Amino acid sequence: MFNLILFGPPGAGKGTQSERLIAQYQLAHISTGDLLRAERKAGTELGEQANEYIAKGELVPDAVVIGMVRNYIVDHREASGFIFDGFPRTVAQAEALDSMLHEFDARIDAVLGLEVEEDELVKRLLLRGQSSGRADDQDEATIRNRFQEYMNKTLPLQSFYSEQNKYHGVEGMGEIESIFDSLCQQIDRVRS
Ligand code: C5P
Ligand code: MG
Repeated sequence: MFNLILFGPPGAGKGTQSERLIAQYQLAHISTGDLLRAERKAGTELGEQANEYIAKGELVPDAVVIGMVRNYIVDHREASGFIFDGFPRTVAQAEALDSMLHEFDARIDAVLGLEVEEDELVKRLLLRGQSSGRADDQDEATIRNRFQEYMNKTLPLQSFYSEQNKYHGVEGMGEIESIFDSLCQQIDRVRS
């Protein structure tokens, strides 16, 4: 198994690049944001609960997200590996992920962090909000709150993975294709 975390703030391009990477490397894509939105659309209780946090730009409690990821991994255990997009978002989630993968005799092989300036992130999110219908992309106050959550709870993961020599920063400004090339170069280096 080869398991990759695509790391970065909201709007960094994790979803966009994941779509290309899963095709290139035959990995399963796990976007916790997409899974939460699918739960909401299906009208499940988990979806209703999660929506209260998503609407405010806050993080959904660890136990909820971890349970959802566990189910996904178990359902896709024949996969040759996963790209985690938008997960883990906290150190507790990262620790839970390590023990889940351990059960499958697997580990996180690399964490690629897309680095994008904040002004560019806001621009991208507001633009996406025009077509995605995502309410949390349409309101600048909610976007700022998502950044706050990222700074407070998610950014510590950069040191968490750096200490394990797994974190690699990648320039996330510029053309989608050239960012994709940088990601592939980094992955190929880790895999060889
Ligand atoms: O990853 P994405 O940007 O699509 O997530 C959208 C929202 O879903 C986040 O702002 C947050 O409210 C919620 N979320 C979460 N925990 C995750 C992933 C997403 O709370 N691991
Ligand atoms: Mg996304």
